Amino acid sequence: MNLDELHGIAQKMVAKGKGLLAADESNATIGKRFDVIKTENSEDNRRDYREFMFRTMPAMKEHISGVILYDETIRQKAKDGTPLVKLIEAAGAVPGIKVDTGAKPLAGQPGETITEGLDGLRERFVEYYKLGARFAKWRAVIDIGAGMPSYNCINANAQAMARYAALAQENGIVPIIEPEVLMDGDHDIKRCEDVTSWVHQEFFNQLFYAGVKLEGIILKPNMIVPGKKCPKQASIEEVAEATVRQLKRHVPPAVTGIAFLSGGQSDEEATAHLSAINAIGGTPWPITFSYGRALQAAPQAAWGGKAENVAKGQASFAHRALMNSLASVGKWTKAAEKAA
Ligand code: 13P
Repeated sequence: MNLDELHGIAQKMVAKGKGLLAADESNATIGKRFDVIKTENSEDNRRDYREFMFRTMPAMKEHISGVILYDETIRQKAKDGTPLVKLIEAAGAVPGIKVDTGAKPLAGQPGETITEGLDGLRERFVEYYKLGARFAKWRAVIDIGAGMPSYNCINANAQAMARYAALAQENGIVPIIEPEVLMDGDHDIKRCEDVTSWVHQEFFNQLFYAGVKLEGIILKPNMIVPGKKCPKQASIEEVAEATVRQLKRHVPPAVTGIAFLSGGQSDEEATAHLSAINAIGGTPWPITFSYGRALQAAPQAAWGGKAENVAKGQASFAHRALMNSLASVGKWTKAAEKAA
């Protein structure tokens, strides 16, 4: 492992004014997104869609530091034969790869999951590195409910995460550590903060035991928000304050950067929250976005699976990338959102 190299990649991923595009939906998940826009989930459509995002200039060059890909996409070629990875590199962004194989039911813990994908992972990292990946992503899912999360769920997922991260670093790949505490329930914001704190504490313990070097990772956390079904929702400022407080208490300063998931927030909410968080400032790490839905819902709707709408899809993607770039430096405003 060359820690300087890993640290350099991680710094590039959180470069000022830039963030990550999470375009790593599995074929099943992108199928659900395509259902909404009545588009057939074919290999060509998946390619055309990702290709138009990766070719959106200058937004890709100016606002996107890296792209998380799925196994199919990292091997795919654009219509003109150029590998999609080359389009990302040409935009000055870092190609990355989702390597977990999904969250599966955890034995003995009804309703909870364990993320799988460790078998053969060393060999897969060797291949992904050759294909151009310089960072990777692994998502653990923690649900809040009656009697949940269990310690078993948090601990098992933290151990799997640590084994993945150590293998990534061994192979010159920066691991994104994504422990997602879901916002699906009716829990309040305090409970989200408590559970997220417990999760981070346990995950950083396991990263330490596994010898993972924090200068060579990026943390991809959830924000501190009440559950979607909680009768008492929080203001933007409350979310920002709780999120910054929670991160400062539980994330070591040696971590190179933080890039949030959007987790089902609307695109404007995710942007407003990120901007408010950065407006508070004073954190030891750069804080940016690694959004999937919050960057893509609008362009997907504008494109609608039709070749004649590619320019509209690109304009919409460029707009969300710019809004989130402004948010990553605490400078997004509702007026900027509307002006475009
Ligand atoms: P969302 O921003 O849609 O939560 O996706 C980010 C991601 O990579 C989930 O694993």
